[in-house]
Amino acid sequence: MNAPLRIGIVGIGAMGLPIARNLHSRGHTILVRDIRADAEREARTLGMQVCESPCLLAQACDIVIVVVVDAAQIESVLFGDAGVASAHAGATTVMLCSTIAPNDTAAFAQRLAAHGIATIDAPISGGPNRALAGTMSMMVAAPAATLGPWQPLLEQMAAKRFDLGEKIGDAAKAKLVNNLLAGTNLVAGAEALALAEKLGLDAQRMFEIVNASSGASWIFEDRMRRALADDFEPRAAAHILTKDLGLATSLAAEVRQPTPLGDAALARFRETVDRGWAALDDAAVLKSYRKPAAAASAHVPIIDVAALVGRPGSLDAVAQQIGAACRAHGFFYIVGHGVDEALCQRLESLSRAFFALPVERKAAVRMALGGRAWRGWFELGGELTSGRPDWKEGLYLGAELPDDDPRVRAGWPLHGRNLFPAELPALRDCVLAYLDALTRLGHALMRGLALSLGLDAGYFAEHGTRDPLVLFRIFNYPSRPATPDVRWGVGEHTDYGLLTILRQDDVGGLEIKTTSDWVAAPPVPGSFVCNIGDMLERMTGGLYKSTPHRVALNISGRDRISLPFFFDPNFAARIESVPRLAAHADDDSANRWDHTSVHTFEGSYGDYLLGKIGKVFPDLKQQVLDTPG
Ligand code: OGA
Ligand code: NI
Repeated sequence: MNAPLRIGIVGIGAMGLPIARNLHSRGHTILVRDIRADAEREARTLGMQVCESPCLLAQACDIVIVVVVDAAQIESVLFGDAGVASAHAGATTVMLCSTIAPNDTAAFAQRLAAHGIATIDAPISGGPNRALAGTMSMMVAAPAATLGPWQPLLEQMAAKRFDLGEKIGDAAKAKLVNNLLAGTNLVAGAEALALAEKLGLDAQRMFEIVNASSGASWIFEDRMRRALADDFEPRAAAHILTKDLGLATSLAAEVRQPTPLGDAALARFRETVDRGWAALDDAAVLKSYRKPAAAASAHVPIIDVAALVGRPGSLDAVAQQIGAACRAHGFFYIVGHGVDEALCQRLESLSRAFFALPVERKAAVRMALGGRAWRGWFELGGELTSGRPDWKEGLYLGAELPDDDPRVRAGWPLHGRNLFPAELPALRDCVLAYLDALTRLGHALMRGLALSLGLDAGYFAEHGTRDPLVLFRIFNYPSRPATPDVRWGVGEHTDYGLLTILRQDDVGGLEIKTTSDWVAAPPVPGSFVCNIGDMLERMTGGLYKSTPHRVALNISGRDRISLPFFFDPNFAARIESVPRLAAHADDDSANRWDHTSVHTFEGSYGDYLLGKIGKVFPDLKQQVLDTPG
């Protein structure tokens, strides 16, 4: 028996939790941290200690094991607010078990070293059962002096350890090579089984034949067993292997080694994710073979925008993907956006806390008190879309402007101070930090949109967004029976401005109208849904679509929080067509939800917006805006 340690584990998901349980059963004290409250609750019932931040966890343990999903999460765990690096004393070593790019591993190690913390590059494999039994495999790279004290711990975690030497990042490379093979194997297996089904063979029988024959592989047996039982509960969610295949094929590209099979497997995984199965088990790749996509336009693409926010990647590739998405549906998901996941999670949970306040507390910040700035809370059913009440309540927010701001002094509607609830002071700071981060992201995406149109990156800044109008809402779609006149969480509409950046929780319900059908835009962890608004359709002469969307009534049993952020032209900006694109415009008012045409609109963005807002809050408009300011 080894001396009991105090072990911190950040990320107690599919692999992190069984690792924690294994080490707990061996007599160690386990401290955990996860961004999901339900995971933390489960750990607590298992007798583990839950820490409020990675910093507090690091201070209370000897070693921190990080088992989160990707490099962005590691960044926030290690170096975000209250991250591991800000701990005073405590853990001397961080063990990185996630699958990430070798360069990222090396960079994290270097930055940790500056805080006097050593790093073990230690990606893992083998699935939850082996993690629980302590029999998973682990690839290990670290200087011998770092590893020394932790050898007994490593033995308890992983029966199969592979020493890759002293160079941090080499274990990460080995893991990516393995996952390239695991991913291609899995896709090949799904392809073969789908063929068997199409040939009229009994898939279960075929599964047994393969396992006893030359087609067998570990991942085929593990994943297809569950897929054939229609069990897609995620042990390893599809978006994770998608990420790994992306990392492996990029790494291959860096060293100019072709990986055509890996590229094909990645494309198949991307399709699986795009079709809304990102959070299902990666065995769901079989579903994409069984039921071919209805049409290429039937799903919303996921675009990695890292290159737009100053991270590695190809700007041309991002611009091309944005352009294709805007011409097709006007909707796309973004990942790789660099916005701190912990900040988003914090805002989501503070928002839940706000909506849980008693009605009179919420009424203390009601919109009627927000004046011309148009801020504050409106109650369930208080907003009309297409003339019907929506089944949501919300808090209207926007850029925080002091009373002496020239725009406020000039009496511009929609500009001014926010109304924040006195009992939740943290909400104010969190909203302001979020507005900051999203405004930066909005500028970056506008650069991408400009590039996608063949314009200079700064085109939109020159034409109305240098000082954008920033509006923001926090919505709660309660899972509560609606009155009979209510049909939707939000009825069909388009957004008014240039670009909407929406964060949604994991409940779902957003739907998008394509030329052929309504399609779902289901939650994709860590992403934002972006859609273009009427002004971008107007400026591009209809080349980019301001696509109608709606939100289904929430019947999930849980309240749905969504956070739409609107990045719009300056209120006074005159809306003009991009010169070359005016020719596209035609009057499509007959087909639009509001029977008006954006293309015939002339004037400033403020004119357009006020016309729209009057329709969704008729009473308030009269009270607030129709009286001289
Ligand atoms: C909106 C909107 C969708 C959502 O606020 O314009 O479409 O999911 N919201 O809340
Ligand atoms: Ni909308």
